[in-house]
Amino acid sequence: MTAVAIDKRQSTPRKSPGRLAGGATGEAPSKDASIEQGQASCGVIDTRLLVLGSTGLVGTELLQRLQLPMQGMPWTRERLDITSAEHVQETILKHRPDVVINATAVWKDSDHGNLLWQVNADGAANVARACAMAGVPLLHLSDARIYGGCHRRVAYQEDDTPRATCHYSQSKLAAEHAVLRAADAAKADAWRSGFRFWIVRTAPLFSLEFTTPLATTAKRIAMQKQVAGCLEVCWQPTAVSQLVEHLLWLLVNRKNVPSGIYHIASSEAASEFRLYERMASILGAHRPIQAISYVDKCRIRGAAVGGLPCWYPLDCSRWQRLCPLPLPSWSLLLGQMLRNLSVLVE
Ligand SMILES: NC(=O)c1ccc[n+]([C@@H]2O[C@H](COP(=O)([O-])OP(=O)(O)OC[C@H]3O[C@@H](n4cnc5c(N)ncnc54)[C@H](OP(=O)(O)O)[C@@H]3O)[C@@H](O)[C@H]2O)c1
Repeated sequence: MTAVAIDKRQSTPRKSPGRLAGGATGEAPSKDASIEQGQASCGVIDTRLLVLGSTGLVGTELLQRLQLPMQGMPWTRERLDITSAEHVQETILKHRPDVVINATAVWKDSDHGNLLWQVNADGAANVARACAMAGVPLLHLSDARIYGGCHRRVAYQEDDTPRATCHYSQSKLAAEHAVLRAADAAKADAWRSGFRFWIVRTAPLFSLEFTTPLATTAKRIAMQKQVAGCLEVCWQPTAVSQLVEHLLWLLVNRKNVPSGIYHIASSEAASEFRLYERMASILGAHRPIQAISYVDKCRIRGAAVGGLPCWYPLDCSRWQRLCPLPLPSWSLLLGQMLRNLSVLVE
């Protein structure tokens, strides 16, 4: 087991007037305070988290933010390829972590074989089965893109019917089904009882440090290049730091969070066009964003209409009823990222 370095800046105990849930002070607790209070209330001692996808956007941020008594076991692809069912089962049985976090992803079809499906769907099923058989709780990350309804104007709730329209979102949906099947098998006592799971669907993520598609577009805008935004594509850009704060809260308070599907994303949805316009205004770019239709966007990308998800804001109220941490709008953190970027581009 390799324990990651704990961020000492965050390990100093802090006091906060907030309470864990529905604080009597009426103030939202700070993230560190709520986590510490969560640890106290749940009696979490030496929680060992096995993080799959530890080199990715979410895995990296999560491991950096862990503080005692949580320890990360960062499992890279070289160390454990989740497409090997035997290796996954062996590893989970051998190390028996307190929670497995599946933050793996493959985004595009490879030229050689069906890697996207093998990792996102079959690999996730291997992890879910192994966790269920070992009775180890699983935090599985999923994606808002499993919805993708074209002209819907209402945010999706967890029980709405998914409509995965691209290969990636179909593989993510298959993974969710695999987690649910594993939970059913565990419930039926076919395997060890005590298996718990949380499927977290989140929205497209951006980070202040990593190169994400949003950062690439921001660079193009800052360099006064022509950028087109679609009016019919709508989502909630979510800062990875914000997501991870909520995942940490879930991990600390896991005894009080029922197994199930949860939406965690920033509070405000925006069309791609509006988002890019806002980015241009923060960056002081003078070239106007071009508004394009969904059909044009598909044509530019060479994709069939209906082949891309386009309207998938998430209703996060189920999660917000459990977790007292705020889910602020994307604009604050995005503004911070763009200001850093404009300094770099200048
Ligand atoms: N990023 C987003 O905008 C977004 C939005 C919604 C949901 N999500 C979900 O959030 C989770 C994390 O996403 P992310 O953005 O952090 O992904 P990411 O940055 O692309 O990282 C993916 C991770 O998966 C690992 N991986 C790939 N194939 C693997 C295999 N066969 N065995 C073991 N590990 C493997 C990669 O390892 P290597 O580095 O070795 O390739 C990498 O560490 C995913 O489930 C994703 O679907 C992400």
